[in-house]
Amino acid sequence: MSTSAFIVPIDPKTPSSNIPNVDIAKTWATAPRGEKVDVGTTRIFYDTPATKITAITSLGENFSAKKGETKRELVRKSVGSAVKALKALDGLKEVTVDGSADPHAAAVAAHLALYNFSLKTTPPSPFNPNLKEPIPPRLEFKAVESSKEWDRGVTYAYSQNLARTLMELPANMMTPTAFCERAKAEFTGIENVEIFVRDEAWAANKGMNTFLSVTHGTDEPAKFLEIHYKGAPQKDAQPIAFVGKGITFDSGGISLKPGEGMKLMRGDMGGAATVVSATLAIAKLKFPINLVTVTPLTENLPGPSATKPGDIIYAMNGKSVEVDNTDAEGRLVLSDAIYYASTTYKPHTLIDVATLTGAIVIALGEVYTGVYSTSDELWERLHAAGEQEFDRFWRMPLSEDYGPQIYSSNADLCNTGGRPAGSCTAALFLKAFAHGIEAEDGSNTETAMKWAHLDIAGTMEATRPTPYQEKAMTGRPVRALIEYVRSLAN
Ligand code: BES
Ligand code: MN
Ligand code: ZN
Repeated sequence: MSTSAFIVPIDPKTPSSNIPNVDIAKTWATAPRGEKVDVGTTRIFYDTPATKITAITSLGENFSAKKGETKRELVRKSVGSAVKALKALDGLKEVTVDGSADPHAAAVAAHLALYNFSLKTTPPSPFNPNLKEPIPPRLEFKAVESSKEWDRGVTYAYSQNLARTLMELPANMMTPTAFCERAKAEFTGIENVEIFVRDEAWAANKGMNTFLSVTHGTDEPAKFLEIHYKGAPQKDAQPIAFVGKGITFDSGGISLKPGEGMKLMRGDMGGAATVVSATLAIAKLKFPINLVTVTPLTENLPGPSATKPGDIIYAMNGKSVEVDNTDAEGRLVLSDAIYYASTTYKPHTLIDVATLTGAIVIALGEVYTGVYSTSDELWERLHAAGEQEFDRFWRMPLSEDYGPQIYSSNADLCNTGGRPAGSCTAALFLKAFAHGIEAEDGSNTETAMKWAHLDIAGTMEATRPTPYQEKAMTGRPVRALIEYVRSLAN
């Protein structure tokens, strides 16, 4: 059998392609099929004249009549379906994709659809953390016609797959220390990047007591990772800041979670994984902006020194916080990280990303990431980027009217707000630490920091396979974040 193949997405009404030596219309006409050919319907031909295997895949009926974002998603679905069909073939090594319908989307879908996390030992897994030599990917993809758009798609998908790997790796392998080591390795050789791995003594010195309160139950050292990318023509231009929740395992702490399904909490560093991975693509693509990415990293475990329900802690900004439930630890690590980033780097925009609440899973499921923002403009840009990449966002209410739920304990803030609107109260809690956001009366709109909080607890995992995503950790919203920064840079 041939070791190489073509993927050719077609509109079933007008099949055509510019791949050499294969008459696509004629080949497609020989395929058995029904009246309607849904998107992703794939036929594999083993004896096409180019001596390659040819996978012809449908873009759906009337593809050419559709517009923009709809088309792009059809391209992802059709290419993804073809990759899923081809990756089952033994001996296949190289796949050339006709991405002319949308090279960026085609590259993204091919690389996401190939991804499959496993630590089985036969065949040897490329994800084994003890590998001496890297194992090449199962298939190599090329574009029929090379283009910047295709290459950019490869970079987007690489970052999203990296986030998936960081989240999939079990907590014994992806500790705060291992996370920082992996981040350093990924950024090796990339220009205009500086990385700082801070330890607990540094955080104590800064007064990051709510962050450190989460780490008391574990012996695994906490880390505070900072990645600085300076791509702006003016090196001192105001940066964007990303903040990512980095709980490498969330057992709930003393407020222990039920055992069933607890292993999902190895991915509770999804916020950190996605912001670091997006930063990698932004730096590789040399977008002309400055960016500071910070991630507080720790495990949340019960232990003899663990924080107890009812404990009251003074955060870095001086506010007192009652820990009503040690399982609401995300907002505790983020509060200090958001305050630190907003006061130290004075970003024009700060976006935090967190697997923060079960309540957002109930509200939005795994379809939309919940967004809370003080800025309509930031929301609109994020929304547009999410639509562009089909990595979608839904705006949620950030309202002081939820305040009484979290302002009424013995401390300034309580880390739980009851069951109603659980993700809204979590967002409001974080707002108290975002320094320099718009004043209520709008008096500082010129200088205000724009802030958005992205709750990804629902979108972190796909529980059903889609044409270009297996049932697994998703690495969302990596592509939307990269695309958002690209839209700013343009
Ligand atoms: N990491 C969890 C949230 C989560 C739930 C992420 C499901 C992914 C899937 C978070 O730390 C948590 O435990 N939140 C609690 C907060 C509550 C105690 C106020 C929750 O949502 O139940
Ligand atoms: Mn928790
Ligand atoms: Zn958590």
